[in-house]
Order: sequence, then structure tokens, then C-alpha cells
Amino acid sequence: MDEFERHGIAVVSGRDACARALRSPELTSDPGAGSPSVLLRDGEDHTRVRAVLREIIAGLEPFPAALRASIEDVVAGLGPAFDLVRDFARPVAGLVTSAVLGIDLDDGFLDRLEATTANLDVFGGADRAGQAAAFRLAVQLSRTPAGPGGLSALRAAHAAGRLDEDELVINAVVLAHAAYENSLNFLACAGLELASGPRPVRELVTAICPARYVLRFGPDGPVAISLADGLPFGLGRHACPGSGVAVAEGEIALGALAKLLGGECRVGEVRWKTHPVFHGLEKAVVTLASGNR
Ligand code: HEM
Repeated sequence: MDEFERHGIAVVSGRDACARALRSPELTSDPGAGSPSVLLRDGEDHTRVRAVLREIIAGLEPFPAALRASIEDVVAGLGPAFDLVRDFARPVAGLVTSAVLGIDLDDGFLDRLEATTANLDVFGGADRAGQAAAFRLAVQLSRTPAGPGGLSALRAAHAAGRLDEDELVINAVVLAHAAYENSLNFLACAGLELASGPRPVRELVTAICPARYVLRFGPDGPVAISLADGLPFGLGRHACPGSGVAVAEGEIALGALAKLLGGECRVGEVRWKTHPVFHGLEKAVVTLASGNR
């Protein structure tokens, strides 16, 4: 909250007030910088770019069987002690992001994707490292040969005149980041919750709420709208178009993890990220009871 005040950002909280704010035509996602990103614009340009991204995401609905099997393999490969972030959430979210784009993603790509968070944060992209990471990803993606999947679909949309050059380059990174960051944070936090017993995925997303706020711009300046009172996927024009994929991914990964944790396990070395918007774990080591495997 201090962070918001320090940057002159008003905060809206409470479910009804937040729902109204998210649907308000007076509050825009566009900070006025002319960004080609789907997240940072409104109106017809937003609708047009969002439609392309939504078509790409629909390629994972229903959730592909091969992707399900790869996620289950990640969980099956966990040792007797593992880090919920590095060994569970990161490879699972990485597999889904890779399937969204239709390309293989290596560790370096995921590192830069995690560093990109800062570039999307609410405080104006003052973080040079975050901007550099996003730029390198944009260059890397523009050079990557793509098979069937999101990256090829973005290029086809560009060739068909549905996206301009800037929209193609930036939204490839935005799509990768959107598919990865919140899922990574959600899966690790949910894994920690599972250590004390199974819970339905939708209930877990709402309780954890990995994206704590979204930023809008109104006549009186910037506003941070809280999502923590029951709106984990947002609402209105920018509501998460990947929520179905996120829930399916969570059900598969967390279902497999819940079976592995069985009755007993120990959790140690729990460290949290400190980002004011993205809520997640830095690290949490689970040690299985000897009978669990
Ligand atoms: C637990 C996981 C996830 C959570 C909590 C989450 C949450 C959100 C939220 C709150 C927004 C709205 C941002 C705003 O209003 O400014 C959003 C936007 C978006 N999400 Fe998700 N998301 C998740 C997973 C995913 C996945 C897996 C995908 C892709 C397959 C995805 C794709 C997107 C895209 C493309 C947008 C931008 C939509 C727009 O600006 O119109 N998300 N997400």
C-alpha cells in the first residue's frame, strides 16, 4: 500500500467497488504512451489484438492430452525433497507457455521471462533490467522458427493485416509473460497450501490471488484496483482470456502433486517475493515423508 501512495496511485478495494471500477468506461488501461501491448490499451485496437490472442489460447481448450502427460511427468520426476518453485511450478508453467507459443523454451528464456515482470509493473517501467529482458525476449522470439501454435498464429495474423509489426513483436512477449508469471506464482503458492490438505483449484486461485492489483488510469490519475476480494482473473474488457487454461493446468499439476504429498510432508526454507502486484514464492522446499514414494 505504501508503494502505491508513494507513487500517487489511489487504491480501490472491496469486491463491488472493484467490479464497478473494472467495468467503468472512465478508467482505461492505456497510460497514454501508445503501447502496442494488449494490456496497455483500450478501445478497438485492444479488441482487435485480444481477439487474435484469444484464438491462440483456444488452441489449448480442451487441454491437450500430450501436455497433460508432460505435466504429470514433471511431478512424477520430483525427488524426495524438491523446491516448489524451481522444480514444480517453473517447469509446469514453462511447459504450458511453450505449448501456447508452439516453441521449445529453455531455462534462459524462462529466466528472462521472470525478469520481465518489472517491465510490466505499475511504476512506469523504471527497472532497466526488466526492460532489457523483455527486449531480448522480443528479439529472440522474432528470430525463432515456429511450428504450429501461437507464434505462427501471431505471424499469420500479421501477414493477414490483423496486427502491425509492433503489435506482433510486443504481444508475443506479453502472451508468453501472461501465460507464465501468474501461473508460476499460483502453482507454487497452491503447492504450499496443498501441504495442509487438498482444496479445489478455483477456491485456491481466489484465496491466493497471484495478481493482487491491476492498474487503470482515470480523470483523477492512476488507480490500483484490488483483485484480492474474489476477482483473481479480473473482470470486464481485460479479464483473463487464459483462465480456463490456467484452471485446467492447475487441476492437472496440483492433482498430481496432492497424490504425491499424500498424508505427510515437511516444508522448509519458505521465502516470499516482495513485488507489490505479483504475489508469489521465491522458494519453498518440500520434503516427503519416507512412505510417500
Ligand atoms: C493462475 C493463473 C492466472 C491468473 C491469476 C491470471 C490473471 C490475469 C488477470 C488478473 C488479468 C487482467 C489484467 C488486467 O485487467 O489488466 C489477466 C490478463 C491476461 N491473461 Fe491471465 N492469468 C493467469 C493465467 C493465464 C494464462 C495461462 C494465460 C494464457 C494461456 C493468460 C493470458 C492472459 C492474457 C493474454 C491477458 C491480457 C488480456 C487483456 O489485456 O485483454 N493468463 N490475467
